[in-house]
Parts: sequence; C-alpha cells; structure tokens
Amino acid sequence: MKILVVGGGGREHAIIRAIRKNPAVDAVYALPGNGGIAADAQCVPIGATDIEKIVAFAVENGVDYAVVAPDDPLALGCVDELEKAGVPAFGPRKNAAVIEASKAFSKRLMKKYGIPTARFETFTHMDKALAYIDRVGAPVVVKADGLALGKGVTVAMTVEEAKGAVRDMMEGGKFGASGSTVVIEEYLEGPEVSVLSFTDGNVVVPMVSSMDHKRAGDGDTGPNTGGMGTVAPNPYYTPEVAERCMREIFLPTVKAMNAEGRTFKGCLYFGLMITKDGPKVIEYNCRFGDPETQVVLPLLESDLLTVMRAVTEGRLAETEVKFSDRAAACVVVASRGYPVRYESGFPIELPKLGPDRDIYVAGAERRDGKLLSHGGRVLGCVAVEDTLEKAVREAYKVADAVKFENGFTRRDIGKRALEALKN
Ligand code: AMP
Ligand code: GLY
Repeated sequence: MKILVVGGGGREHAIIRAIRKNPAVDAVYALPGNGGIAADAQCVPIGATDIEKIVAFAVENGVDYAVVAPDDPLALGCVDELEKAGVPAFGPRKNAAVIEASKAFSKRLMKKYGIPTARFETFTHMDKALAYIDRVGAPVVVKADGLALGKGVTVAMTVEEAKGAVRDMMEGGKFGASGSTVVIEEYLEGPEVSVLSFTDGNVVVPMVSSMDHKRAGDGDTGPNTGGMGTVAPNPYYTPEVAERCMREIFLPTVKAMNAEGRTFKGCLYFGLMITKDGPKVIEYNCRFGDPETQVVLPLLESDLLTVMRAVTEGRLAETEVKFSDRAAACVVVASRGYPVRYESGFPIELPKLGPDRDIYVAGAERRDGKLLSHGGRVLGCVAVEDTLEKAVREAYKVADAVKFENGFTRRDIGKRALEALKN
C-alpha cells in the first residue's frame, strides 16, 4: 500500500513511524515532510496547503490512502478534494474542520447543544467588545475567531490588557481576517487535559489522555508556544472525569456535529479544563495535537493505519483500539529564542536510541548528509516507561544526549503531573 501524509512536523513524524509498522505499507510519502522525516518517508516538496498539487500527486502516484494532519489543509478542504479524486483520506471534511477553524462556530455549537464551556460573547464591532470588557471586568479571555497558529488567545488578568488584546486583533490586524471577529469568554481555572479521540461520526474512542506544556519557560512562564513537551497519561483525567467527559462532552459533540449536517470523521481533539464544576471545553481541534501525538501514539498497541481506515469507512465500533497502560513523556528541543526570534541552520547530531525511545524531528533539513535545525521546535525526545516518573527522567536523558548547540528545553516537563500523582 502507498500512503501519503500531509504535513512536516514532529506530529507527522510520529504518525509516519506508527503507520510504517503495518506490514502492508510499502511506501510512505510526506508532503512536504522534513530532513528528519526523510529517514522514514519519501519527502516531496509540496506545501501542506497546496491542495491542488497534493491531489495531483496522490492520483499520479497511485496513493491508496492519505492522512491530512495539520489544521490549515483540513480547513481548506483537502480531504474533500482527495475524496473527489478517489483517494480515501483520514481527517474531517471542510464543513466539519470548522469546529477548530472558527471559535465563533464552536462556541455557538456548545451553547446550542448544552456542552459545558466557558460563558462567552462574540463581537464584530470593537466598541461593543471594549464596552463588554468594562462590564464583565478581569480576569477575562480574548480569542481571535480564526486559526492563529495557537497564538490568538490572550488570558488577560486586567481590563487594560484585555482591551489591548481586542484592539490588537480588531484594529491592529495582528491576525488578519482571523481577528475581525473576537470571542470574549469567562476565565476558567483548573488543570488542563488534552484528549485526542478517534471518531467516525457514530462512536467516539478516546485515546490515552495527555498534558501539554504551552509556555516557553519553566514554571509556565514566558510566551505561549506550540507546545514544549507532553506527558501521557494525564493524572487529572481520572476514570470519573473520563466517564463524565464521554457523557457530557464527547458524545454530545459528535451528535451535535451530525445534527448540523457536519459529520466529523478523524481525530477530534478535546482541550479540556477540569474546573470545580466539572470538565469544560477550552477548545476543539480537528486534528492530532502536536506534541500530544508524540506521547499518545507510542502507547497505541493497535495498528494505527487499521484504526484510521476504520474511521474513514465508519467501522470504528467493530475495531479494536488498545492502549498500553504504561506512560510516555516528550521533551521538545527548541531553537534558542523560540517562539519570539531564533536562528536556523545549526548542525544536530542524534544519539543512538534503545527500545522505547524515539526522537521525532519537527524542524530540520538535510544538507550534504547533515541534519540542520530549521524552525522553532526542532526535536521531540520521547521515552516510554512503566511509570510517568521514569518516562520523564528518560525523555530528558534522550534530550540531553542530543548534540545541538542552539537548542534549549524546558526543565520541568511532567513536574506538575508528577506532583498531582503524589497527592
Ligand atoms: P486555546 O488556544 O483556546 O487552547 O487557548 C490557549 C490557552 O489559553 C489554553 O491552553 C488555556 O491555558 C488558556 N485559556 C483558554 N481559554 C481559557 C479560559 N476560558 N480560561 C482560562 N484559560 C484559558
Ligand atoms: N499542542 C496543542 C495543539 O496541538 O494544538
């Protein structure tokens, strides 16, 4: 079988490694992939949002199945176009990808179907948004409506900060068209849990839970990033919380999308906050998380490609999806200065790895046989162990064995989770 994977980050590297375990797979193409992914797939220089070229490549090369991993091509209808050309693909169609692409859509969906989330209002006029902030006060959260690379959210502790964020988005054009509509919502408190799930529109099968570390600096300080590390499972996701999430959030969301004529097939990612009033949705993503995937897939014991195809074909209910009860940690090695300003082009030497260890390459290119850093997040260093404590320790050993002089890691990935386990 020939498989095509759209995307070129650490998440895609993890997906490709998992897909290659299926013995029926004889070729994997990554569009565009990266210099590290090139060790596991044939990288083709076609951008992840160049839908026309992606479809043409798939048809010309007799691709049997495609996986569309990033949010942009999903929002642009990449799955719809592949399907039209006769190439089955993993991921939601355009009309379902909107659950991530528009926060105004997803918030309205939750309100309409009684799915627990922060209270909110949507604004298209700046004056009204500013007046609303005066009325509700701080802390308050301001979000740009559209995709803003995970950076369109301001958790404002003061009214002035909240107003500044609204002005930046609506007047400053910081996020282009994504910022012409803003959502202002209630500030929630509690630990965050990421739950990626498989859904074929009929059933929802949650994957092992995980915890992201979004800020660049230790102790959750510094600017927001795409994610500096992850652990799985997330200790805050107890069996009771899981049961409540299924009943109050997961199934109602899938049913709501069906009722709207927007059946969601693919990986639906629930970004949750476990508040004192129960679990609430912070955000939906229409795709695998990055770097959540790097800890979730190493714990998947079932064959990923088999599960993905069952999702596409609506056979998920009769397909086994089994996760190991071990633990995984991923420590991201990023370029110094990320996410603000950083340089690329530094040589990287990867250490030899034992079993249950992996390095997924997020941002690197290969030149003259050498691996050079290329981008903000460069590597995801992963360890799987029987306990979370060991997994974290071992993931740091992997990260520290990497030779990359311009790299930095957060030093407290998993700390909060380990403290929660002690209580
Ligand atoms: P998002 O891009 O929607 O995931 O938001 C980024 C981060 O902002 C989340 O991971 C939370 O830490 C924080 N956040 C978003 N919404 C809220 C909220 N209503 N209350 C408190 N924190 C929030
Ligand atoms: N790590 C968060 C995300 O993928 O959106």
